[in-house]
Amino acid sequence: MSFYITTAIDYVNAEPHVGHAYEKIATDVLARHMRQRGEDVFFLTGTDEHGEPVADAARAQGLEPRELADRNAERFKQLVKTLDISNDFFVRTTDPEHEAKVQEVLQRVHDNTHVYKGLYEGWYCPRCADFKVENEILPGNLCPIHEIELTRESEENWFFRLSAFEGRLLELYSEQPDFVMPAHHYNEARAFIESGLQDVSLSRAHLKWGVTVPWDPSQVFYVWFDALLNYYTALSYARPGEDLTAEFWPATYHVIGKDILKFHTVFWPALLMAAELPLPEHVFVHGFLLGSDGRKMSKSLGNVLDPFAVIDAFGTDALRFYLMRDVPFGSDGAVAMESAQTRYDTELANEYGNLASRTVAMLSRYRDGVVPTAATDPVLLRDFDVLPSEVAVVMDRADPTRALDLIWPRVRRLNRYVEERAPWELARDPAQAERLDETLASLAEGLRVLTVLLHPYMPQTTQRLLDALGSPDVAFGRAVFAERGSGAEVAELEPLFPKR
Ligand code: MSP
Repeated sequence: MSFYITTAIDYVNAEPHVGHAYEKIATDVLARHMRQRGEDVFFLTGTDEHGEPVADAARAQGLEPRELADRNAERFKQLVKTLDISNDFFVRTTDPEHEAKVQEVLQRVHDNTHVYKGLYEGWYCPRCADFKVENEILPGNLCPIHEIELTRESEENWFFRLSAFEGRLLELYSEQPDFVMPAHHYNEARAFIESGLQDVSLSRAHLKWGVTVPWDPSQVFYVWFDALLNYYTALSYARPGEDLTAEFWPATYHVIGKDILKFHTVFWPALLMAAELPLPEHVFVHGFLLGSDGRKMSKSLGNVLDPFAVIDAFGTDALRFYLMRDVPFGSDGAVAMESAQTRYDTELANEYGNLASRTVAMLSRYRDGVVPTAATDPVLLRDFDVLPSEVAVVMDRADPTRALDLIWPRVRRLNRYVEERAPWELARDPAQAERLDETLASLAEGLRVLTVLLHPYMPQTTQRLLDALGSPDVAFGRAVFAERGSGAEVAELEPLFPKR
């Protein structure tokens, strides 16, 4: 089955921060999990490069918008690399192929008579020569760049007949109750539609930095319409010489943050309806990462968590694990260096890392580094039996945090098993050789199963451990606790999560 998953595309006028990292990591965990299950996955991320804020930021720095976009898109590409994100393509809305496709789709929306000319009113900066969006305007109605007073202006531009889609959107919401997930965001989006939709401006007359409106080249498209279409356009040119649209459209999941819900759950399906394109299956709305004090992160409050600082201190896999473990996907959650440290010390180093080290060390000490081909413990087997299917069920609902809640008690279970069985005592008594075989085979097997399941969260560390266990295969089908140990040869293992 094909599985197409996307993140929001990031604005290039701001610095990459932990919120961007969080969304990409969560989406990557889902994509990697689905690949493990043999799904035909396409994973898209990228940058949103047009519009007033980028043009403004460039002007403030004395650059052309394209220069700024090129420079900052590189930083987001770097972020993706540093986080070990397995995206299949990185879309930039300044890609000429994207721009051409945006024109093609919106021309169709126009030809289908869903567009008309109207009067747009907004706050205008004469020095920037463009309108400011509400959330960038400084207190006192000032331009964020020039800090001069904005004037109320109006211009003629093109409008999208969003109001005409109210009925069809409500039908969609009734027919597809999981169109927006989790449920409280479905309710929020639905209530917004029920409260009545107004038509929205589709273009800008003053702005130059955007995709030209093909039927009126004096205007460019409003950045949100250009940006939303990335999910569709990218498939047509992501793989040179191929068009993947038929294979992957419509998307399975659009993963977004709650601040951009309206655009994805109202504008986007309406736009696709207007263009006669199939609708995505799900929009998954995640929460916000908050500062350690539970307030919105902001530099002035000094409560910002820098993802690169966490990576420097604990490594990429630890950052990935920490964010997925600490902030339930779909809810808001506070993040801080101290809690990252605690997760690292207690769960990664003491629990999982220690379990791995002990298991590998005992196999080499007591069985010359070979997993005994003995029967595994039937009691332990029961603890692992249903685990993979339970994990698959919650991952199908895009809940990587819940999956960790299911996996982690088994990590603890194996550590308890080591204490209960005390292999070092069994090793002293030749009469207990069989029991020692069973113990070591069970530990190796349990650890292997958990490591396959943890692979999407911590791709590098888990691969290293699986290689050391002599069972490098990460396919989901391998996450089955076998009745017999494998006879695999175990290699030496450096600590997975050394003391920091
Ligand atoms: N460019 C638009 C999205 C267009 S999608 C067609 C945009 N960009 S953004 O850079 O501001 O945000 C990118 C994503 O990061 C959004 O999904 C947003 O919700 C998410 N986050 C930004 N700050 C965040 C947190 N503090 N916490 C979690 N996610 C946050 O919006």
